[in-house]
Amino acid sequence: MALTNKSRTPNSASASRRHTLTRHVHLAAKKARRNTSATCSAMEVPISKDAAWKDLEEHVNAIEETHLRDLMTDEERVMSMIKESEGIVVDYSRQRVLPETMTKLLKLAEAAKLREKIDSMFSGEHINSTEDRAVLHVALRAPTTEKIVVDGKDVVPDVHEVLEKIKVFSERVRNGEWLGATGKPLTNVVCVGIGGSFLGPLFVHTAIETNQEAMDKAQGRELRFLANVDPVDVARALSGLDPETTLVVVVSKTFTTAETMLNARTVRTWITSALGQDAVAKHMVAVSTNLKLVKEFGIDPENAFAFWDWVGGRYSVCSAVGILPLALQYGYETTDLFLQGAWSIDKHFRDTPFDQNLPVLLGMIAVWNVSFLHCPARAILPYCQALAKLAPHIQQVSMESNGKGVAIDGTTLDFETGEIDFGEPGTNGQHSFYQLIHQGRVIPCDFIGTIKSQQSVYLKGEVVSNHDELMCNFFAQADALAQGKSATDLRAENVPDALIPHKTFTGNRPSSSILLPELNAYTTGQILALYEHRVAVQGFVWGLNSFDQWGVELGKVLASQIRKQMNEARTKGRLMSSQDGHNASTTYLLNKYLSGKAQ
Ligand code: F6P
Repeated sequence: MALTNKSRTPNSASASRRHTLTRHVHLAAKKARRNTSATCSAMEVPISKDAAWKDLEEHVNAIEETHLRDLMTDEERVMSMIKESEGIVVDYSRQRVLPETMTKLLKLAEAAKLREKIDSMFSGEHINSTEDRAVLHVALRAPTTEKIVVDGKDVVPDVHEVLEKIKVFSERVRNGEWLGATGKPLTNVVCVGIGGSFLGPLFVHTAIETNQEAMDKAQGRELRFLANVDPVDVARALSGLDPETTLVVVVSKTFTTAETMLNARTVRTWITSALGQDAVAKHMVAVSTNLKLVKEFGIDPENAFAFWDWVGGRYSVCSAVGILPLALQYGYETTDLFLQGAWSIDKHFRDTPFDQNLPVLLGMIAVWNVSFLHCPARAILPYCQALAKLAPHIQQVSMESNGKGVAIDGTTLDFETGEIDFGEPGTNGQHSFYQLIHQGRVIPCDFIGTIKSQQSVYLKGEVVSNHDELMCNFFAQADALAQGKSATDLRAENVPDALIPHKTFTGNRPSSSILLPELNAYTTGQILALYEHRVAVQGFVWGLNSFDQWGVELGKVLASQIRKQMNEARTKGRLMSSQDGHNASTTYLLNKYLSGKAQ
């Protein structure tokens, strides 16, 4: 790399850095041009130029004249906007839509060739054209009776071969047939991985760890995750664990991610310094698409669980990335239920007409909120503590997928895409950021609730259980946002004039309510697939590539240059100067850091 070459002048160093980046972008663009497919014609007409888009733009005026307070009194409208499929109820009657809005949105879906794009995805076409890859996370949950072909090969048998390997291995670890180097059972698992190699598994683990059946199966076992390169996270992940009883799963699609590889080396040292070099064979396994690098790292490929480049990192929780850790913790049958749940929504998404198709309806409403009503964000609000990690996972799924500025053919988009996702379980969120949602910015919300709780904690003699109390808030919040409270209502309550502006709720704030029968491995799979496909619908309609992530590259390149310079500065005991090619701010901050750090 340019900056390690001492003979270079600062100008040539930054010129070289620019050259590296330009070359990177140029190669990607060249590859993208080569790989045109059904979803990536050389020059697609932007969807914003289509008559269906224009029609929706004009329709905004009609919507501006409505208020959800009134719309919610139209029972026919309301009931037409409550859909139930695969045991899930989706109620979008509190979205700022009329029946004709939905008709127009489905016309937009048609204009965007949504049906063709969904079919292209399921049929293994290389719809991720900038990386020349198919997008087939659905194949990860397909039963053996399905056939899904990528580049002329049915991949379903490959998927089931790895699942079988996970089943056998996890059962051996769980029943004590696979022992650690000192002959002790491995009851603790630490997964080292970041981004898609962490957030999905953490979400599912959190969702099912309080489910009674899963809890019974996890008795005496512990599952932890190590994602951040921060030494504090390393300390937290290993705290109180005994290397003798710990199995480490290194999870990385590429097996090159800097944070993961450093953490993997750190944890390997933690194992080998306690148990010796040979212990790696018994205490470390890997999940990756890059088995060559797994081997170079020192993990026997026999102890590696493969997946494929047609699985995007953020869509990989149904591969060995999630299934291995979850099978180790909860037993393979639990993960099988999770996969079945996801597949039930995959089939629904693939086969159901759009006007009854849950991910399509939710995706089209999101397009409406973002691109036509100009709502910048979306709040994910599960009234279910076990879904605490849904929002962080969907943040990656949605924002890494649809946070793009160009169409799939590289042309700049002239409308807003993507949304800022955030969320917390209710009722905690109510005591935090709901103030802004009720009286500040308009943020469409997803309220998610369950009919039955995973736990039946209640106070003796109380009629309303903890779960009832939780769900009362689920019902109340959606109506509070929609209905609001007027000055007239407040006057009728004798509220002093000076307080009326402060106590007024404008209402007319959109939300969807999603009701699940209960939260278990199966419904966790369903909710995952529902969100994944909804994100795909949005990307397909906006005409962008939801499956690449070039936006994460620049920061990685710059960090790696700084890493090299920092090493050199430390070795030579020097500070940074303007010759290192940074601006004055970065030079100052780096030097403050280098000189203030205890070695
Ligand atoms: O930096 C973003 C990213 O590439 C994600 O898309 C991915 O999930 C994550 O890094 C981790 O990558 P890997 O699994 O290759 O370590």
